[in-house]
Amino acid sequence: MAASDYLKAQGISKTFMRNNQAVVALEDFDLSIAEGEFVSIVGPSGCGKSTFLHIVGGFEPRTGGSITLAGKAVSRPGPDRGMLFQDYALFPWRTVLSNVTWALEVKGMSKAEREQRARKYIDMVGLSRFEGAYPAELSGGMKQRVALARTLVYEPQILLMDEPFGALDAQTRELMQEELTDIWQADRRTVLFVTHDIEEALYLSDRVIVFTARPGRIKADIRIELPRPRHAHIRKTPEFMNYHTQIWDMLRDEVLRAREAA
Ligand SMILES: Nc1ncnc2c1ncn2[C@@H]1O[C@H](COP(=O)(O)OP(=O)(O)OP(=O)(O)O)[C@@H](O)[C@H]1O
Ligand SMILES: [Mg+2]
Repeated sequence: MAASDYLKAQGISKTFMRNNQAVVALEDFDLSIAEGEFVSIVGPSGCGKSTFLHIVGGFEPRTGGSITLAGKAVSRPGPDRGMLFQDYALFPWRTVLSNVTWALEVKGMSKAEREQRARKYIDMVGLSRFEGAYPAELSGGMKQRVALARTLVYEPQILLMDEPFGALDAQTRELMQEELTDIWQADRRTVLFVTHDIEEALYLSDRVIVFTARPGRIKADIRIELPRPRHAHIRKTPEFMNYHTQIWDMLRDEVLRAREAA
């Protein structure tokens, strides 16, 4: 296995049937991601981004193609792939700590071991002081941090994130992006991240993949050569803005095509 093929998706296609009509969501594309890389996907609404993430997660069967993670074929959901969605779906009757340990209970780990592991990740997302709080006592950003800790606690080989900050207000969202960058810089886990927000994709990523309008294929795969560690001020640099313009020009064409097809 080549180092650049840690996640290797080949010939991916997906057709849904709706009212006896075929909806081609994804059409024959390849994508490889190296271990430790942070890769974002942007593309017009309905182009198949979530579908692709669900296929990699093993939640949605694909119509064609193959996927391997660290050389192992992927078909069903597994603890090697951690999913994080826009709605955080925490258990309201459990505290922060026990929301995070929950994932480990099924693994048959001892309570002490579970709590030690959970605290490591609760600390990483900056919520140590809130481990005894219930979800209703937390803000949206804090809930999403708990959801992130709950995904990290599995120690998955790849994180699959589908617009995880989409429901947050603009300021909280920016703070969460900064926190995620810090966590990623410390942890270097492989991430596949879907977003509508070009700035978010740029700030976080080593590569930004632009999808075409449906059926989704890869229109561009852009390496983001911005220095790391990244801090908020990088958003104001000419290099950042150049990438932004380049990606938005490509995306705009696809958004217009998607609108014409609708
Ligand atoms: N279960 C399903 N049954 C039928 N069609 C579906 C199903 N799920 C998705 N689709 C269709 O597949 C296409 C891709 O959907 P998908 O949710 O992957 O898009 P997306 O890129 O994530 O969009 P958004 O940016 O709005 O989240 C859409 O045309 C959608 O209507
Ligand atoms: Mg989606």
